[in-house]
Amino acid sequence: MTTLAFIFRSKLVKVLLMQAKILVIHGDGIGPEVTTVGQVVLKKVAELFGHQFSFEEALLGHQAIVATGQPLPEDTLQKAKNVDAILFGAIGHPMYDQNPNLPVRPEQGLLKLRKELGLFANLRPIQVFDELLEASPIKPEILRGADILFFRELTGGIYFGTPRERRDNGNTAVDTCIYTKAEVRRIAVMAFQAAKNRRGKVTSVDKANVLETSRLWRETVTEVAQNFPEVELEHQLVDSMTMKLIAQPRNYDVILTENLFGDILTDEASQIAGSMGLLASASVGSNVGLYEPIHGSAPDIAGQNVANPIASVLSASLLLSMSLNLKTESEAVVQAVRLVLSEGYRTKDIATPTTPSDKLLGTREMGEKILQKLAALAV
Ligand code: IPM
Ligand code: MG
Repeated sequence: MTTLAFIFRSKLVKVLLMQAKILVIHGDGIGPEVTTVGQVVLKKVAELFGHQFSFEEALLGHQAIVATGQPLPEDTLQKAKNVDAILFGAIGHPMYDQNPNLPVRPEQGLLKLRKELGLFANLRPIQVFDELLEASPIKPEILRGADILFFRELTGGIYFGTPRERRDNGNTAVDTCIYTKAEVRRIAVMAFQAAKNRRGKVTSVDKANVLETSRLWRETVTEVAQNFPEVELEHQLVDSMTMKLIAQPRNYDVILTENLFGDILTDEASQIAGSMGLLASASVGSNVGLYEPIHGSAPDIAGQNVANPIASVLSASLLLSMSLNLKTESEAVVQAVRLVLSEGYRTKDIATPTTPSDKLLGTREMGEKILQKLAALAV
């Protein structure tokens, strides 16, 4: 990545020209459709703001298994290690649901990629667009203004602990939940730093009344909090948190939690935003960041041009700000999405019974509207 600062025209505006290498991994199901839109948005940003982004592509998940027998081919891993950022789509295929014992599975590819790249922190912002208040099943007066940033630990816990196996002729199954203090500390520090620049509150979620790993989690987070006296820390148990999160979403600023709880709570939190199709995420922790919608591959709607591309577009926005430090460009992308929504355009997942049929857009058409707004904003 190289940057070149210069004075733009005579206006003393500092412009950063950036060259960046971006790996696009489309993945499975609706992945290719939505990621294509995210990528087009990145290309448009480069064109409008004078940056040079070069793109490579690689396989992951079911499509990689079909082509190479491996969910994470070596070629993909090598490419991933040699770019500035990765834009990823989705993973999963229904054939594995019908064969739960298949040893090679698409999800293994994503988990291994996260682990190999050291992406231990998964940031999932939950923002409520005022324009979409009625797309949520939660009452508008409860929702309005909710703004939560999840820090989900991503390379530890029960997702990765060993042993994980069948015993007793397949009649017993074992998964292992394991955390070290160092793993908890590094993500807790990130969460507290983020809270300092937001509303100053961290809610740490665990199951410390039952689980040993959760007691370690709580103890470590409490220690980290001592270095951040300006940030308020509260602990919540995950079961009651599922209830409080949708009952009083405005009570929360930064929510910090372990891998499995974070996976579950963020799907629940998608109902605060209105749809899974809106939620972006950033996986960080080393020198490359991976940006992806939190939704899955949605095979039931794949290939029909109906998936919502906004989660991918907002993932592209996170990529711009977090991996490339292009804050203005990142904000312009969010603003473009907001403008399209404020004009009433909707994909199927966020449409309501009152949405006029001419405002109901397909995946590509939603992408085109966002590009138009982006171009208008950059003038
Ligand atoms: C997510 C997904 C993944 C996870 C799957 C696809 C492995 O649900 O990113 O939330 O469980 O982490
Ligand atoms: Mg999930």
